[in-house]
Amino acid sequence: MNYLLGIDIGTSGCKSILIDDKGSIAGAVLKEYKLYTPKAGWSEQDPEDWWNAVIEGIRELLGRTGIPGENIKGIGLSGQMHGLVALDKNDRVIRRAILWNDQRTSEQCKQITQKAGGLNGLLGLTNNRMLPGYTGGKLLWLKEKEPKNYEKMTHFLNPKDYIRLRLTGERATEVSDASGTGLFDVKNRRWSKELLSLLELTSEMFPPCYESSEMSGRITASISGQTGLPKGLPVVGGGGDAVVQTTGMGLIKPGVVGTIIGTSGIVAMGLNEYHPNPEGLLQVFCNNTPRTWHAMGVTLNAGGTYRWFRDALGEAEVQKALKTGEDVYTLMDKAAAQAKPGSRGLIFLPYLIGERCPYTDPTARGAFIGLGLHHGKAEVIRSILEGVVFSLLDVYALIRTMDNSITEIRTSGGGSLSPLWRQIQADVFQSPVITVSGSGEGGAYGAALVAGAGVGVWSSVDEAIGVLKKETETNPNPENRLIYEDIYGIYHSLYSALKPAYHALAELDK
Ligand code: XUL
Repeated sequence: MNYLLGIDIGTSGCKSILIDDKGSIAGAVLKEYKLYTPKAGWSEQDPEDWWNAVIEGIRELLGRTGIPGENIKGIGLSGQMHGLVALDKNDRVIRRAILWNDQRTSEQCKQITQKAGGLNGLLGLTNNRMLPGYTGGKLLWLKEKEPKNYEKMTHFLNPKDYIRLRLTGERATEVSDASGTGLFDVKNRRWSKELLSLLELTSEMFPPCYESSEMSGRITASISGQTGLPKGLPVVGGGGDAVVQTTGMGLIKPGVVGTIIGTSGIVAMGLNEYHPNPEGLLQVFCNNTPRTWHAMGVTLNAGGTYRWFRDALGEAEVQKALKTGEDVYTLMDKAAAQAKPGSRGLIFLPYLIGERCPYTDPTARGAFIGLGLHHGKAEVIRSILEGVVFSLLDVYALIRTMDNSITEIRTSGGGSLSPLWRQIQADVFQSPVITVSGSGEGGAYGAALVAGAGVGVWSSVDEAIGVLKKETETNPNPENRLIYEDIYGIYHSLYSALKPAYHALAELDK
């Protein structure tokens, strides 16, 4: 049997999976690593930690499944988008990588927008805003704030592309991740020479860019020796996680909307043709098949808020999980299920690390509104699950403005494994919510499908997604419709009410 390896450099860990040519998962391994937050709003990781997780993950996966290396036909890479890995002339990492959810570059983003001739000028060049978090702002930040490091930098890569460099010796990227630098001409699928020149960035710094299923390099002899993968095994372009994960859900054409609850939350859909991005409210990127595009809105705080609760306030659940061997999130879900839909009027705003969509505001923060003596832990936990889905609904409203022919909602990501969270989605969206094969595997599953299309296991990504099977369908409970409509109406009004307070608090923090 033929197998494909998908590797996803996520924010909490690296997921490596093997799938067969029927799309079934033969094995999966997750290796966690550290996140550094040296200052409020900063978010960094050590690329060496990713690399160790990749090597250990591959070894463990091959060992556990017993699948011989020769049966693996290709590798697809997926990874957290927008990160900056700065490399010196010997391809050594200069400083810790600055991640997608880092908020330090607001000033630089403003400068870039100005240099491009304002928002419309920038949208004309890239079809996207320069959001804090995108790679472009980070390059300028490095130039301004760490000039010595900037001088040393001869190249930069996004996270998954750094792993490609280590696996194959090739510096390369592909169109979906390149779109997320904010420096890519998404319409013409090439680096924006015009913007690079306005920002005085040399094009030598930028890696060559492939279509996602094109072969970008082969496993070197040394990596073959370290992992058991065959020397010369093709590594295809792959995709930025937010895009390739939706490809893995079958979202390459309009009509199906996908929500993803990972660390961040995403609402996305595939586009058959290029669409302008009015006001740049959404992210419109190249999709993983040639001549197709992808529209999405990303809320920075989804599963990350649930993890925050676990770490900051979930000691009892963590201890119980350690004792009984149950999953800590399942225990938190059980507690939340004790509360009624609407959490008895407790509303959670999830903006713990600032927000990107529908509000671009690095100073936004989380809040519990309506908290009373009648609320217990059950309401607090349930309100977190509900608040995340309300923020997805905010983004869904924007996605509908791009194409309203939506016939189905699919969901994936760690959060899609929770039946309660799926039910809340179905109730809030008032639509059935479906999961398909691979929905809990992050970008790794989609990357493996794209690899299969690239090496000829399937003739195209279109054919590859034909292997997807429906796994669950959660139907809305009509009784909850009005409760959620009312609570969402109040939720939606809260960001603007709290905005002045967020900004004042950010001033105090300076
Ligand atoms: C997409 C985005 C996140 C990251 C982290 O624009 O910022 O999905 O890719 O996973």
